Amino acid sequence: MNLKVLVTGVAGFVGSNLAERLLSSGYDVVGIDNLVYGLREQIPAGVAFHAADIRDRDIQKLFRGVDVVFHLAAKNDLIACQEDPVETMQVNVAGSANVFEAARREGVRKVVFATSSALEEGEARLNGFYAISKVANERIAAGYHQAFGLPFVAVRYFNVYGPRQDYRRAHPPVISAFILKVLAGEAPVLFDGYQNNKRDFIYVDDINDFHLQCITDDRLTGNLYRLGSGQSLSMDEVWTTVKAVAGSDLDPVVLPRGAADTPTVGLADISAAAAVGWRPKTAFIDGVRAQYEYMTNEFAAGKVKVGTK
Ligand SMILES: NC(=O)c1ccc[n+]([C@@H]2O[C@H](COP(=O)([O-])OP(=O)(O)OC[C@H]3O[C@@H](n4cnc5c(N)ncnc54)[C@H](O)[C@@H]3O)[C@@H](O)[C@H]2O)c1
Repeated sequence: MNLKVLVTGVAGFVGSNLAERLLSSGYDVVGIDNLVYGLREQIPAGVAFHAADIRDRDIQKLFRGVDVVFHLAAKNDLIACQEDPVETMQVNVAGSANVFEAARREGVRKVVFATSSALEEGEARLNGFYAISKVANERIAAGYHQAFGLPFVAVRYFNVYGPRQDYRRAHPPVISAFILKVLAGEAPVLFDGYQNNKRDFIYVDDINDFHLQCITDDRLTGNLYRLGSGQSLSMDEVWTTVKAVAGSDLDPVVLPRGAADTPTVGLADISAAAAVGWRPKTAFIDGVRAQYEYMTNEFAAGKVKVGTK
């Protein structure tokens, strides 16, 4: 019998890509999403989908017979999290506790959950409500392990990019933001200090290689893994890559940075993941090309609103 895997946040960026990989690897996939950010059309055919909220206690019945849970659902637009700390905690803290509770009550073998590099991008970021909720998430996993012996793997992603990244949100992640500018024919925006504002970008398929390993490799249980490329790129380097891929002749405008927004360098220490055999395989330019193709297809289908970001 196939192993049964449940994915929360299955209609989102990472979740929908993961579900596709799980199905093609022969797993039975159950998916949960309340579709606040995710799209039903992104859920691959073959997923047993339930439009449900992770805060709802009734989700427990969906965990019956599940072997492994990937808990990815979250409120994760940093600015939206700052605007509504209470909802951030309700979804990311209480909702996560509810997922772990359902998993332990139904005897799930392992919960793999997404945490974030926001926990290691300086004090200001750490005191943001999104990061606070992810700290709590990591402690909840440890708490469920200590109290109930529920095995977990914590996967701390850095900046994940690739097809189906959510470009629709009010504050799209930087690669999507740059591609939207290209599609609109508008100059991209950099902020003062952009040379010192660096992030570690990791392609979604590379993340999902690790997720698949989490299912079968019990050495990973109880550990935290940072997933990035192991290289950080400044915002102008990111723009230069998008520009090359798109064949654009636009040049960026540089605007003053907000006082509370200090440039930081994000760089993943991927040694723990490397020690268990994981390697990021995708060159940045190839990943950006795949994301660009995805967004130009969306644009051609009339789905992308441009000129507003
Ligand atoms: N994308 C990144 O760069 C990145 C980096 C670090 C961590 N993460 C984490 O990875 C996970 C997946 O991120 P993503 O980029 O795929 O985000 P996403 O927004 O595309 O997907 C999250 C999904 O969760 C769903 N969701 C939100 N609230 C829910 C609720 N109450 N009940 C049920 N479903 C709900 C949304 O509708 C969405 O489909 C998140 O936990 C995020 O915090 C992402």
